[in-house]
Amino acid sequence: MEINVQRIDIFDVSADLLVLGAYQGISHPFDEIDRKFDGEISKIAARSGFDGKHGQTLLFPTFGKISAKTVAIVGLGERKSFTADSARKIGGLIVKIAKSHRAATVATAIPGFDLKGIDFRNTAQAFAEGVFLSAYRFHVYHGTLKKKEKPPRELKSVIVCERGARQAVSAEQGIKQAEVLSRATNYARDLVNTPSSEMTPARMAEEAKSLAGKGIRVKIMDAKEMERRGMYAALAVARGSAHSPVGVHLSYHPTGAKKTVAIVGKAVTFDSGGLSLKPAKSMESMKIDMAGAASVLGLFRAIAELRPSVAVHGIFLAVENMPSGSAYRPGDVVRAMNGTTIEVLNTDAEGRVTLADALSYAQTLKPDMIVDLATLTGACVVALGNDVAALLANDAKLSKRLMSAATESGEPLWELPLYEQYNEQIKSKIADIKNTGEGSAGTITAALFLKHFVDETPWAHLDIAGPSYVERETRPDQPYGGSGYGVRLLARFLQGF
Ligand code: BES
Ligand code: MN
Ligand code: ZN
Repeated sequence: MEINVQRIDIFDVSADLLVLGAYQGISHPFDEIDRKFDGEISKIAARSGFDGKHGQTLLFPTFGKISAKTVAIVGLGERKSFTADSARKIGGLIVKIAKSHRAATVATAIPGFDLKGIDFRNTAQAFAEGVFLSAYRFHVYHGTLKKKEKPPRELKSVIVCERGARQAVSAEQGIKQAEVLSRATNYARDLVNTPSSEMTPARMAEEAKSLAGKGIRVKIMDAKEMERRGMYAALAVARGSAHSPVGVHLSYHPTGAKKTVAIVGKAVTFDSGGLSLKPAKSMESMKIDMAGAASVLGLFRAIAELRPSVAVHGIFLAVENMPSGSAYRPGDVVRAMNGTTIEVLNTDAEGRVTLADALSYAQTLKPDMIVDLATLTGACVVALGNDVAALLANDAKLSKRLMSAATESGEPLWELPLYEQYNEQIKSKIADIKNTGEGSAGTITAALFLKHFVDETPWAHLDIAGPSYVERETRPDQPYGGSGYGVRLLARFLQGF
């Protein structure tokens, strides 16, 4: 799938499908095409109630009157409420229309380019992200049955028609950026979608190693090395599994970098709950519990190409949480790398136990700031639903930066308070802290737990339990399965340095 910019009139392109945008409430939005069809289009529009509402579509065959075989007019919504995310959604909608009409080539113009004061590059990037992210498919496990189904005609090319020279250059830049970020996001999606039988801790280390080169260094720690470093908390979680844990440290140090950021991901390759076993239903999707680390890997793929001017560490401790005769137990006390002792009351609150060591390790690198991503709490899904991730931070400047990166990337994020008084909930009678709260504000108590493993360093925690995985599709750029949430957000964040 490729998107190319051509300095050509949109009616002169030969394509299977021509997509035109129309704003809501503009009386004659398609004058030009209407003239070519002797006024019939506006009549069809009026009859079918098409008024340019965002996402509405009006389709008609061209019977050879113009080069394209089919025309789709898509509603762009109201002019004044058009944003980059509207362009992203239209990009996705175009892929959807192309698929259902078996179009291999689509000609269109970037929506919003005719608006006053629009950021061309950013709008083009969002539009192209919508296209690339919607075209994602995970078919590694299609067998004889699925392969027998009529193969969908692939969308091969989207031609963006743009006459303006300046606009065309900006469009190209935005599309290039989108291509890199979408490839990285789709890679993270692949990692999340791959079953836990394959996506083991060892495999995650292999994936990291495959990213080495292009200014990226990769260090792998085996269980022995983790033990030598005192990562007893993460090791305890891994003990019930037949798969050995693996520690991964990626790093990127461009010359002249003034700041260093550490990005830490939760990497539980399967979360059965351990001895505090999950009910069968809740376990069904738990291959996704390494989504945080998948986004770290995706991010490094993007970093290799975007080369931001900030040094970055990517860290995760990959483990599998299983019940067995050697599993860690409720009531066990484990010591994390930074010396903090943890009373384990629920082995299903394993993410924070592994992150205790991952954050302690990140802290030893003395970064200027730490950001972690984790599918940490079901409570977060209760609070913010399936689309929105939670942000909890000890530094207002850092959280502001992340919030604006999220707005730009179109990955919904909302801040929750790191409310210190709830530390009462994780006090232990016999150890420094315990790994579960008393029931309410589970996302906050989990974050307060993590806070014990970072010093004064500005730190932000993203709880991505909701948006890391799409079970019910609500927009084409978020197809079923792993979403790659965080890759684009963090890439934008890093590019801000
Ligand atoms: N991986 C889960 C959290 C999760 C739940 C992610 C649903 C994605 C979707 C985490 O390890 C977990 O089990 N958390 C427990 C914590 C509890 C035992 C304190 C939870 O949220 O129930
Ligand atoms: Mn769990
Ligand atoms: Zn988990």
